[in-house]
Amino acid sequence: MELKINFSGRAINYTDEEIETVVKVMREAPTLTQGERQAEFERKFADFQDVAPGSCFAVNNGTSALEMAASLLRLKPGDEVILPSHTFTASAYPFIKAGATPVWADIDPETRVVSPETIERVMTPRTKAVVPVHLYGYVADMPEIAELCRERGVACVEDAAQAIGSKVDGRRAGSFGDMAIFSFHSHKNLTTLGEGGMLYLRNPELAPLAPLLRHNGHCPYPETRPNYWTPAMGNVDLPVLDGEPIMPGNYSIGEIECALGAKLLDRIEDINAEKRQRAMKFIDGLEDFPELEFHRVPTDRHNYHLLAARMKDGPEKRDLFMAKMYVEKGIKCVVQYLPLNRYDFYRKLGFGEANCPNADAFFDSMVSFPFQHTLKEYELEYMLDSARDVLRSLR
Ligand SMILES: Cc1ncc(COP(=O)(O)O)c(C=O)c1O
Repeated sequence: MELKINFSGRAINYTDEEIETVVKVMREAPTLTQGERQAEFERKFADFQDVAPGSCFAVNNGTSALEMAASLLRLKPGDEVILPSHTFTASAYPFIKAGATPVWADIDPETRVVSPETIERVMTPRTKAVVPVHLYGYVADMPEIAELCRERGVACVEDAAQAIGSKVDGRRAGSFGDMAIFSFHSHKNLTTLGEGGMLYLRNPELAPLAPLLRHNGHCPYPETRPNYWTPAMGNVDLPVLDGEPIMPGNYSIGEIECALGAKLLDRIEDINAEKRQRAMKFIDGLEDFPELEFHRVPTDRHNYHLLAARMKDGPEKRDLFMAKMYVEKGIKCVVQYLPLNRYDFYRKLGFGEANCPNADAFFDSMVSFPFQHTLKEYELEYMLDSARDVLRSLR
């Protein structure tokens, strides 16, 4: 069987100008890490997000940004962090590594992300933080969720890994929380050569800690030393928050990735708009098949990083649909985001309990279509015709 459309690990192609940007750094940059390109990417990103200058920190991937965010929460045993059960594993385990107990929140069946209600339902006096995840590229109800967190005095850490550029109430995903993270992984709408990420910290008092946490506690000695070479090239200092030390790591990103990330910010709105317009075309092309239920959002609240649907007739029909799409049409759809409480990983840690019926029901009947930006128009047409054929054959 010949595979005609793969669920590709790569999301976008680069323009000649973007490739030249990379080559220029390769040829000319005086350093390949922690240099001017990183500073420029952070400045441009803060501007894109419309958040304070100096509040964004480029890192090597979204998971690193989550690890840094989790360490800045200074979690103690018994502290609870509310997370959607329906998300990628990296949304959750950095908080467990930092000492928290995860508490799984359900998703809203229509939007497939957490809502103020599903979060509030699982809040307890031990809740220390809430992590809304803008899964598939759709921003959760952040105005309400941020307000709820403020009222309850708990931190809000947005996982905007998949939602670069998406907006609610005119504000971007990842600009509402106390902290936010982004991913520029190979599969995302903005991808910095395979790996990349960003951490946003609203509180300016935390900002000086981020470079130390990111790079082994490294910091410069003052330039005014009489001998620049003594006692050594650079200093290391212990990041300390409210009197307590926080261990650093090396979460640094290279200059090439940063230069490319800054350049791609000029095009990300176009990429998102193209994906959204294609999603509408695909969804509308299947409107005679209501058994396949999409989340149709024609506005910039959704960047359609992924195109997911639910087979209303249940898991068996979903499996038949996927098998026929694969075997007869050569199209590889996938199933994503097994609720985390159902993974062996979390069960073995004792976090296998959840009351998330919407997440379970959605996951058990979901299908995610290949939807990388690199898809050609004729491939999209073929996938639409194929989905129609297969759905017809299953009636
Ligand atoms: C929702 C979500 N959170 C976190 C991450 C982690 O990002 P990264 O792969 O850049 O470490 C990803 C994805 O890859 C993700 O999809």
